[in-house]
Amino acid sequence: MAHTITLIPGDGIGPEVAAATRTVLEASGVAIEWEVLNAGAEVAEKRGTTLPDEVLESIRKNKVALKGPIGTPIGKGFRSVNVTLRQALDLYSNVRPIRSLPGVEPRFEGTDIVIVRENTEDLYAGLELMIMPGIAQSIKLITERGCTRICEYAFEYAERMKRKRVSVVHKANIMKLSDGLLLECFRKVARAHPTIEPAEVIVDACAMQMVKNANKLDVIVTENLYGDILSDLGAGLVGGLGIVPGANIGVDAAVFEAVHGTAPDIAGKGLANPTALVQSATMMLYHLGEVDAARKMERGLLATFARGVRTADLGGTAGTAEFTEALANEVARA
Ligand code: NAI
Repeated sequence: MAHTITLIPGDGIGPEVAAATRTVLEASGVAIEWEVLNAGAEVAEKRGTTLPDEVLESIRKNKVALKGPIGTPIGKGFRSVNVTLRQALDLYSNVRPIRSLPGVEPRFEGTDIVIVRENTEDLYAGLELMIMPGIAQSIKLITERGCTRICEYAFEYAERMKRKRVSVVHKANIMKLSDGLLLECFRKVARAHPTIEPAEVIVDACAMQMVKNANKLDVIVTENLYGDILSDLGAGLVGGLGIVPGANIGVDAAVFEAVHGTAPDIAGKGLANPTALVQSATMMLYHLGEVDAARKMERGLLATFARGVRTADLGGTAGTAEFTEALANEVARA
Protein backbone atom coordinates (compact mmCIF):
# COMPACT_ATOMS: atom_id res chain seq x y z
CA MET A 1 0.00 0.00 0.00
CA ALA A 2 1.25 3.45 -0.87
CA HIS A 3 2.29 5.80 1.92
CA THR A 4 0.65 9.23 1.81
CA ILE A 5 3.25 11.85 2.65
CA THR A 6 3.17 15.62 2.80
CA LEU A 7 5.79 17.25 0.57
CA ILE A 8 6.80 20.86 1.16
CA PRO A 9 9.18 21.74 -1.72
CA GLY A 10 10.17 25.06 -0.10
CA ASP A 11 11.95 28.10 -1.55
CA GLY A 12 15.13 28.69 -3.57
CA ILE A 13 16.75 25.36 -4.49
CA GLY A 14 13.98 23.56 -2.55
CA PRO A 15 11.83 22.64 -5.59
CA GLU A 16 14.94 21.43 -7.49
CA VAL A 17 16.19 19.13 -4.70
CA ALA A 18 12.63 17.99 -3.91
CA ALA A 19 12.03 16.93 -7.54
CA ALA A 20 15.38 15.12 -7.60
CA THR A 21 14.53 13.32 -4.35
CA ARG A 22 11.16 12.17 -5.72
CA THR A 23 12.93 10.68 -8.75
CA VAL A 24 15.42 8.80 -6.55
CA LEU A 25 12.68 7.56 -4.19
CA GLU A 26 10.75 6.23 -7.18
CA ALA A 27 13.85 4.31 -8.28
CA SER A 28 13.95 2.62 -4.85
CA GLY A 29 10.59 1.01 -5.65
CA VAL A 30 8.71 2.44 -2.67
CA ALA A 31 5.11 3.51 -3.32
CA ILE A 32 4.38 7.06 -2.16
CA GLU A 33 1.43 9.34 -2.82
CA TRP A 34 2.51 12.90 -2.31
CA GLU A 35 0.35 15.67 -0.92
CA VAL A 36 2.27 18.68 -2.21
CA LEU A 37 1.70 21.86 -0.21
CA ASN A 38 3.95 24.81 0.10
CA ALA A 39 5.12 27.08 2.87
CA GLY A 40 7.72 29.81 3.10
CA ALA A 41 8.63 33.15 1.61
CA GLU A 42 6.82 32.81 -1.74
CA VAL A 43 3.64 31.62 -0.04
CA ALA A 44 3.86 34.56 2.36
CA GLU A 45 3.78 37.02 -0.57
CA LYS A 46 0.47 35.58 -1.80
CA ARG A 47 -1.20 34.46 1.42
CA GLY A 48 0.25 36.75 4.10
CA THR A 49 1.46 33.76 6.13
CA THR A 50 4.53 31.55 5.74
CA LEU A 51 2.68 28.49 7.06
CA PRO A 52 -0.94 28.14 5.87
CA ASP A 53 -3.17 26.03 8.16
CA GLU A 54 -3.64 23.30 5.53
CA VAL A 55 0.10 22.46 5.70
CA LEU A 56 -0.07 21.70 9.43
CA GLU A 57 -3.37 19.84 8.94
CA SER A 58 -1.83 17.69 6.19
CA ILE A 59 1.20 16.76 8.36
CA ARG A 60 -1.06 16.00 11.33
CA LYS A 61 -3.15 13.72 9.11
CA ASN A 62 -0.29 11.96 7.27
CA LYS A 63 2.08 12.01 10.27
CA VAL A 64 5.11 12.23 7.96
CA ALA A 65 6.45 15.10 5.85
CA LEU A 66 9.45 15.71 3.62
CA LYS A 67 10.47 19.34 3.55
CA GLY A 68 12.79 21.46 1.43
CA PRO A 69 14.49 24.57 2.79
CA ILE A 70 12.36 27.59 3.53
CA GLY A 71 13.29 31.26 3.60
CA THR A 72 11.92 33.47 6.33
CA PRO A 73 10.89 36.87 4.90
CA ILE A 74 12.73 39.67 6.65
CA GLY A 75 10.28 41.93 8.44
CA LYS A 76 7.84 41.96 11.29
CA GLY A 77 5.08 39.40 11.65
CA PHE A 78 6.77 36.39 10.02
CA ARG A 79 7.93 33.60 12.28
CA SER A 80 10.38 31.00 11.03
CA VAL A 81 8.42 28.08 9.55
CA ASN A 82 10.94 25.64 11.00
CA VAL A 83 10.52 26.92 14.55
CA THR A 84 6.72 27.06 14.16
CA LEU A 85 6.57 23.47 12.85
CA ARG A 86 8.77 22.14 15.66
CA GLN A 87 6.62 23.84 18.29
CA ALA A 88 3.19 23.19 16.76
CA LEU A 89 3.91 19.48 16.23
CA ASP A 90 6.13 19.07 19.33
CA LEU A 91 8.97 17.64 17.21
CA TYR A 92 11.24 17.25 20.22
CA SER A 93 13.97 15.13 18.71
CA ASN A 94 16.37 16.41 16.06
CA VAL A 95 18.35 13.56 14.55
CA ARG A 96 21.35 14.23 12.35
CA PRO A 97 23.51 11.37 11.08
CA ILE A 98 27.06 12.49 10.24
CA ARG A 99 28.45 9.98 7.78
CA SER A 100 31.25 10.46 5.27
CA LEU A 101 30.77 9.57 1.62
CA PRO A 102 33.50 8.01 -0.52
CA GLY A 103 36.13 10.48 -1.68
CA VAL A 104 34.50 13.64 -0.30
CA GLU A 105 36.65 14.59 2.71
CA PRO A 106 39.48 12.05 2.85
CA ARG A 107 40.80 13.31 6.21
CA PHE A 108 37.54 12.20 7.85
CA GLU A 109 36.80 9.14 5.73
CA GLY A 110 34.90 6.51 7.69
CA THR A 111 33.16 9.00 9.99
CA ASP A 112 29.84 7.57 11.16
CA ILE A 113 28.11 9.13 14.15
CA VAL A 114 24.59 10.35 14.91
CA ILE A 115 23.65 13.45 16.88
CA VAL A 116 20.30 13.40 18.71
CA ARG A 117 19.56 16.93 19.80
CA GLU A 118 16.74 18.07 22.08
CA ASN A 119 14.70 20.44 19.93
CA THR A 120 12.37 22.38 22.22
CA GLU A 121 14.11 23.47 25.45
CA ASP A 122 17.41 24.94 26.70
CA LEU A 123 18.40 28.49 25.75
CA TYR A 124 16.04 28.21 22.74
CA ALA A 125 12.94 28.36 24.93
CA GLY A 126 12.93 32.12 24.21
CA LEU A 127 13.05 33.22 27.86
CA GLU A 128 15.19 36.36 27.70
CA LEU A 129 15.00 39.64 29.52
CA MET A 130 16.93 42.83 30.17
CA ILE A 131 17.25 42.89 33.95
CA MET A 132 18.39 46.50 33.74
CA PRO A 133 20.22 48.56 31.10
CA GLY A 134 23.48 46.76 30.38
CA ILE A 135 22.46 43.43 31.93
CA ALA A 136 20.69 40.78 29.84
CA GLN A 137 19.57 37.38 31.01
CA SER A 138 18.71 34.24 29.01
CA ILE A 139 17.11 31.39 30.88
CA LYS A 140 18.30 27.87 30.18
CA LEU A 141 15.18 25.78 30.62
CA ILE A 142 15.84 22.07 31.19
CA THR A 143 13.07 19.73 32.36
CA GLU A 144 13.04 16.15 33.61
CA ARG A 145 10.36 15.32 31.00
CA GLY A 146 12.41 16.87 28.17
CA CYS A 147 15.64 15.10 29.22
CA THR A 148 13.97 11.75 29.76
CA ARG A 149 12.18 11.65 26.42
CA ILE A 150 15.24 12.71 24.40
CA CYS A 151 17.42 10.11 26.18
CA GLU A 152 14.77 7.45 25.60
CA TYR A 153 14.65 8.41 21.93
CA ALA A 154 18.47 8.13 21.66
CA PHE A 155 18.66 4.71 23.29
CA GLU A 156 15.73 3.35 21.28
CA TYR A 157 17.31 4.72 18.09
CA ALA A 158 20.63 3.07 19.02
CA GLU A 159 18.90 -0.27 19.55
CA ARG A 160 16.90 -0.01 16.34
CA MET A 161 19.88 1.00 14.22
CA LYS A 162 22.20 -1.56 15.87
CA ARG A 163 24.59 1.02 17.30
CA LYS A 164 26.75 0.17 20.32
CA ARG A 165 27.01 3.26 22.48
CA VAL A 166 25.10 6.41 23.46
CA SER A 167 27.26 9.32 24.68
CA VAL A 168 25.54 12.06 26.63
CA VAL A 169 27.23 15.43 26.01
CA HIS A 170 26.96 17.90 28.91
CA LYS A 171 28.67 20.54 31.05
CA ALA A 172 27.41 19.31 34.42
CA ASN A 173 30.74 20.10 36.07
CA ILE A 174 29.74 23.80 35.77
CA MET A 175 25.93 23.75 35.36
CA LYS A 176 25.29 21.29 38.15
CA LEU A 177 21.52 21.68 38.26
CA SER A 178 20.46 21.95 34.61
CA ASP A 179 23.05 19.70 32.97
CA GLY A 180 23.09 17.67 36.18
CA LEU A 181 19.41 16.91 35.55
CA LEU A 182 20.24 15.73 32.02
CA LEU A 183 22.91 13.39 33.44
CA GLU A 184 20.56 12.05 36.09
CA CYS A 185 17.85 11.29 33.50
CA PHE A 186 20.44 9.79 31.11
CA ARG A 187 21.71 7.37 33.79
CA LYS A 188 18.17 6.29 34.64
CA VAL A 189 17.23 5.69 30.99
CA ALA A 190 20.56 3.91 30.34
CA ARG A 191 19.76 1.36 33.05
CA ALA A 192 16.64 0.36 31.11
CA HIS A 193 18.71 -0.31 27.94
CA PRO A 194 21.48 -2.68 29.09
CA THR A 195 22.53 -3.73 25.55
CA ILE A 196 23.73 -0.20 24.76
CA GLU A 197 26.89 1.11 26.40
CA PRO A 198 26.41 4.54 28.05
CA ALA A 199 29.20 7.16 28.04
CA GLU A 200 29.44 10.66 29.51
CA VAL A 201 31.44 13.36 27.71
CA ILE A 202 31.91 17.03 28.59
CA VAL A 203 30.95 19.25 25.64
CA ASP A 204 34.37 20.89 25.09
CA ALA A 205 36.13 17.52 25.14
CA CYS A 206 33.46 16.24 22.76
CA ALA A 207 34.33 18.94 20.19
CA MET A 208 37.95 17.76 20.18
CA GLN A 209 36.99 14.11 20.09
CA MET A 210 34.71 14.68 17.12
CA VAL A 211 37.69 15.90 15.09
CA LYS A 212 40.18 13.31 16.36
CA ASN A 213 38.13 10.15 16.77
CA ALA A 214 34.44 10.83 16.20
CA ASN A 215 33.29 7.24 15.87
CA LYS A 216 34.07 6.50 19.52
CA LEU A 217 31.10 8.74 20.41
CA ASP A 218 28.71 6.66 18.24
CA VAL A 219 25.27 8.16 19.10
CA ILE A 220 25.43 11.53 20.87
CA VAL A 221 22.47 12.75 22.89
CA THR A 222 22.55 16.35 24.03
CA GLU A 223 20.75 19.61 24.77
CA ASN A 224 19.58 22.05 22.12
CA LEU A 225 22.51 24.52 22.04
CA TYR A 226 25.34 21.97 22.27
CA GLY A 227 23.58 19.88 19.62
CA ASP A 228 23.17 22.88 17.31
CA ILE A 229 26.88 23.70 17.43
CA LEU A 230 28.19 20.12 17.34
CA SER A 231 25.98 19.13 14.42
CA ASP A 232 27.41 21.92 12.25
CA LEU A 233 30.90 20.82 13.27
CA GLY A 234 29.82 17.37 12.15
CA ALA A 235 28.59 18.67 8.79
CA GLY A 236 32.00 20.29 8.27
CA LEU A 237 33.75 17.00 8.98
CA VAL A 238 32.02 15.12 6.19
CA GLY A 239 31.88 17.71 3.40
CA GLY A 240 29.37 20.41 4.24
CA LEU A 241 25.76 21.42 3.94
CA GLY A 242 24.97 19.73 0.63
CA ILE A 243 25.32 16.30 2.23
CA VAL A 244 23.94 16.21 5.75
CA PRO A 245 20.37 15.03 6.36
CA GLY A 246 18.10 15.68 9.30
CA ALA A 247 14.87 14.59 10.92
CA ASN A 248 12.58 16.28 13.41
CA ILE A 249 10.66 13.61 15.28
CA GLY A 250 7.74 13.94 17.68
CA VAL A 251 5.25 11.51 19.14
CA ASP A 252 2.55 12.16 16.52
CA ALA A 253 4.51 13.44 13.51
CA ALA A 254 7.92 13.52 11.87
CA VAL A 255 9.36 16.06 9.43
CA PHE A 256 12.42 15.05 7.40
CA GLU A 257 14.51 17.86 5.97
CA ALA A 258 17.94 18.77 4.68
CA VAL A 259 19.98 20.92 7.02
CA HIS A 260 20.92 23.49 4.38
CA GLY A 261 19.02 26.67 3.46
CA THR A 262 17.52 27.93 0.21
CA ALA A 263 20.95 28.66 -1.38
CA PRO A 264 19.75 31.80 -3.23
CA ASP A 265 23.15 32.12 -4.95
CA ILE A 266 22.58 28.94 -7.01
CA ALA A 267 18.76 28.67 -7.06
CA GLY A 268 17.27 27.98 -10.50
CA LYS A 269 20.67 27.24 -12.06
CA GLY A 270 20.50 23.44 -11.98
CA LEU A 271 23.57 23.26 -9.72
CA ALA A 272 22.05 22.21 -6.37
CA ASN A 273 23.25 19.05 -4.68
CA PRO A 274 20.20 16.95 -3.73
CA THR A 275 22.23 14.54 -1.53
CA ALA A 276 21.12 16.07 1.78
CA LEU A 277 17.41 15.80 0.98
CA VAL A 278 17.89 12.35 -0.58
CA GLN A 279 19.57 11.18 2.65
CA SER A 280 16.72 12.76 4.67
CA ALA A 281 14.31 10.75 2.52
CA THR A 282 16.28 7.60 3.36
CA MET A 283 15.79 8.36 7.05
CA MET A 284 12.09 8.79 6.27
CA LEU A 285 11.98 5.32 4.69
CA TYR A 286 13.51 3.77 7.84
CA HIS A 287 10.92 5.66 9.90
CA LEU A 288 8.15 4.20 7.69
CA GLY A 289 9.57 0.69 8.11
CA GLU A 290 10.61 0.54 4.42
CA VAL A 291 13.98 -0.95 5.30
CA ASP A 292 14.72 -2.61 1.93
CA ALA A 293 14.06 0.58 -0.01
CA ALA A 294 16.12 2.59 2.52
CA ARG A 295 19.08 0.22 2.10
CA LYS A 296 18.80 0.53 -1.70
CA MET A 297 18.96 4.32 -1.35
CA GLU A 298 22.07 4.01 0.85
CA ARG A 299 23.86 1.56 -1.43
CA GLY A 300 22.97 3.61 -4.53
CA LEU A 301 24.36 6.80 -2.98
CA LEU A 302 27.61 5.12 -1.95
CA ALA A 303 28.00 3.66 -5.45
CA THR A 304 27.39 7.05 -7.09
CA PHE A 305 30.02 8.75 -4.93
CA ALA A 306 32.44 5.85 -5.39
CA ARG A 307 32.12 6.41 -9.15
CA GLY A 308 33.18 10.03 -8.59
CA VAL A 309 29.89 11.61 -9.75
CA ARG A 310 29.67 14.83 -7.73
CA THR A 311 28.08 18.27 -7.87
CA ALA A 312 30.07 21.53 -7.89
CA ASP A 313 29.82 22.15 -4.12
CA LEU A 314 31.93 18.97 -3.68
CA GLY A 315 34.39 19.84 -6.43
CA GLY A 316 32.57 17.85 -9.13
CA THR A 317 31.19 18.82 -12.52
CA ALA A 318 27.71 17.25 -12.48
CA GLY A 319 24.63 19.45 -12.40
CA THR A 320 21.51 18.48 -10.42
CA ALA A 321 19.96 16.59 -13.39
CA GLU A 322 23.08 14.58 -14.25
CA PHE A 323 23.75 13.69 -10.60
CA THR A 324 20.09 12.71 -10.05
CA GLU A 325 20.03 10.47 -13.12
CA ALA A 326 23.24 8.71 -12.07
CA LEU A 327 21.96 8.27 -8.52
CA ALA A 328 18.52 7.00 -9.59
CA ASN A 329 20.19 4.42 -11.86
CA GLU A 330 22.44 3.22 -9.03
CA VAL A 331 19.51 3.02 -6.59
CA ALA A 332 17.41 1.05 -9.09
CA ARG A 333 20.12 -1.61 -9.42
CA ALA A 334 21.34 -1.56 -5.80
P1 NAI B 1 22.36 28.17 2.71
O1 NAI B 1 22.48 26.83 3.32
O2 NAI B 1 21.16 28.42 1.89
O3 NAI B 1 23.65 28.45 1.78
C1 NAI B 1 24.99 28.48 2.28
C2 NAI B 1 25.96 28.11 1.14
O4 NAI B 1 25.86 26.69 0.91
C3 NAI B 1 25.61 28.76 -0.18
O5 NAI B 1 26.83 29.07 -0.86
C4 NAI B 1 24.85 27.70 -0.96
O6 NAI B 1 24.99 27.79 -2.36
C5 NAI B 1 25.50 26.41 -0.43
N1 NAI B 1 24.55 25.30 -0.43
C6 NAI B 1 23.57 25.05 0.49
N2 NAI B 1 22.89 23.96 0.16
C7 NAI B 1 23.41 23.50 -0.98
C8 NAI B 1 23.12 22.38 -1.82
N3 NAI B 1 22.13 21.51 -1.53
N4 NAI B 1 23.86 22.22 -2.94
C9 NAI B 1 24.88 23.04 -3.25
N5 NAI B 1 25.21 24.11 -2.48
C10 NAI B 1 24.48 24.34 -1.37
O7 NAI B 1 22.44 29.23 3.90
P2 NAI B 1 22.12 30.80 3.92
O8 NAI B 1 22.63 31.44 2.66
O9 NAI B 1 22.63 31.26 5.22
O10 NAI B 1 20.54 30.92 3.97
C11 NAI B 1 19.71 31.22 2.84
C12 NAI B 1 18.25 31.16 3.27
O11 NAI B 1 17.91 29.85 3.71
C13 NAI B 1 17.85 32.11 4.40
O12 NAI B 1 16.59 32.70 4.08
C14 NAI B 1 17.68 31.19 5.60
O13 NAI B 1 16.70 31.69 6.50
C15 NAI B 1 17.18 29.92 4.94
N6 NAI B 1 17.50 28.71 5.73
C16 NAI B 1 16.51 27.77 5.82
C17 NAI B 1 16.76 26.57 6.47
C18 NAI B 1 15.68 25.54 6.50
O14 NAI B 1 14.60 25.73 5.96
N7 NAI B 1 15.91 24.39 7.12
C19 NAI B 1 18.05 26.29 7.11
C20 NAI B 1 19.03 27.34 6.91
C21 NAI B 1 18.74 28.51 6.26
